[in-house]
Amino acid sequence: MRKIAILNFKGGTGKTTTAVNLSHALALSGKSVLVIDCDPQGSVAGWLGINPEHTFFDLLTDQVSIENCIHHTREGMDVIPSDKRLTLIEVRLAQRENMGTAFLEKLSSLSKYDFVLLDCPPSMSILNLNALEYAEEIFMPVSLDYLSLRGVRQVIESLPEGIEITKVIPTFYDQRTKKSKEILEDLKSFFKEKVTMPIRVNVRIAESSSFHKTIFEYDSKSRGAHDYWELAKEILRG
Ligand SMILES: Nc1ncnc2c1ncn2[C@@H]1O[C@H](COP(=O)(O)OP(=O)(O)OP(=O)(O)O)[C@@H](O)[C@H]1O
Ligand SMILES: [Mg+2]
Repeated sequence: MRKIAILNFKGGTGKTTTAVNLSHALALSGKSVLVIDCDPQGSVAGWLGINPEHTFFDLLTDQVSIENCIHHTREGMDVIPSDKRLTLIEVRLAQRENMGTAFLEKLSSLSKYDFVLLDCPPSMSILNLNALEYAEEIFMPVSLDYLSLRGVRQVIESLPEGIEITKVIPTFYDQRTKKSKEILEDLKSFFKEKVTMPIRVNVRIAESSSFHKTIFEYDSKSRGAHDYWELAKEILRG
């Protein structure tokens, strides 16, 4: 079971987009995937058009068993959704002696999945600390705009000791702009082979979420579908 946190403290870099579409690509490739939404914004459920009764909050507060928090959304793709009550967890976790290990405990019974992907909120929070303790790989989507490198530095500086970013996924790549290419080169010179193939800007991706579809359901011929499919192949190679 590969446990992957999708993390960047900067907002709007494509974390949720990557969690949803990379997961679906992996599921379509025959893998079993669980997406856990760790963000109180609850964007994963919104994107997939599910209106869940039980969420990650209920699991973390021991109110509902893990089986009842898992929602089957697509073939091979399950979700533990979140909702805005998850913000309340921060306070509760802060009161624990070991505030970073709640996810590890609550998710310890999971074993039937090939992949567990955590969609993380854009901040250094206790929720993210838990995600980092639980995950064994960290994928960081980096939007190719000029402010993103500052965000990258911030993430690296605030990671707990011993935790390293394993993949950097360039997002919002626009081949026509010099800026996009320059930032991509900067990322490659810093992160070397950790940088995956870039995900291009594609309006079909932005549209797909309002139709509650993954890019493969909304437009399987789009650039977005192509790029997330290629990314999944790259991830499956290791
Ligand atoms: N490759 C892309 N091309 C065009 N639009 C995109 C692309 N990737 C993401 N988007 C759009 O950009 C917006 C931000 O993406 P997303 O919600 O995935 O970012 P995020 O990092 O999860 O944000 P947050 O930090 O708020 O959780 C969304 O409206 C999404 O549809
Ligand atoms: Mg998000």
